[in-house]
Amino acid sequence: MTIKSSNTVWHHATVTRQRRADLNNHKSTLLWFTGLSGAGKSTLAHALEESLYQMGYHTFVLDGDNVRHGLCGDLGFSNSDRVENIRRVSETTKLFIEAGVIVLTAFISPFRADRDKARKLVGDDFIEIYCDCPLSVCEERDVKGLYDRARKGEIKEFTGISSPYEEPNNPELVVDTGGTDLDQCVTQILEFLIQRGIYERQLIS
Ligand code: ADX
Repeated sequence: MTIKSSNTVWHHATVTRQRRADLNNHKSTLLWFTGLSGAGKSTLAHALEESLYQMGYHTFVLDGDNVRHGLCGDLGFSNSDRVENIRRVSETTKLFIEAGVIVLTAFISPFRADRDKARKLVGDDFIEIYCDCPLSVCEERDVKGLYDRARKGEIKEFTGISSPYEEPNNPELVVDTGGTDLDQCVTQILEFLIQRGIYERQLIS
């Protein structure tokens, strides 16, 4: 992206990320869920958020369907619009991390290159979680009825049907959302966060 806003000067905050972490009693990070539509990204992100919230952590879920009602409401599903969608979301996550929040994103984010750009932008805080669910299972579930419509040609450029999904090569975590129940998936991620030193204990009793 070419920066068009010239003559701007970065203002440094006195309330730093570290100070926010001290106040919150936990670190911030980014959990980037990726996978097909219907793979369970949003469900899992919200279930995990619920657990973290109940234990006193500051969290926020950025969800594809929701963000496309506002911040990204001007974007469709062409390759270039998806690239821009993920770019905006990546920049937004950076702000949330700076604000001291554990941010969870639930976007198909079908292109490896865009996820890698997000990883580069965010650095070590980027935790890529692949929601591994076969297309056949997503299609079988078809919670929103979109696969059926895509097969009938009513929805163009639909991920997995008429638009590609590129699986992550080296995600931090693979969660079998096609075959494992929700609670187990949440536990798997919480255990990973313990290893990472992000989730240590119940903050409130
Ligand atoms: S992304 O590809 O740009 O990452 P995003 O996660 O924001 O996609 O939005 C995906 C959601 O939009 C899907 O879960 C589905 O509900 C809806 N959707 C509508 N049209 C499409 C389409 N052509 N391809 C994929 N998802 C679509």
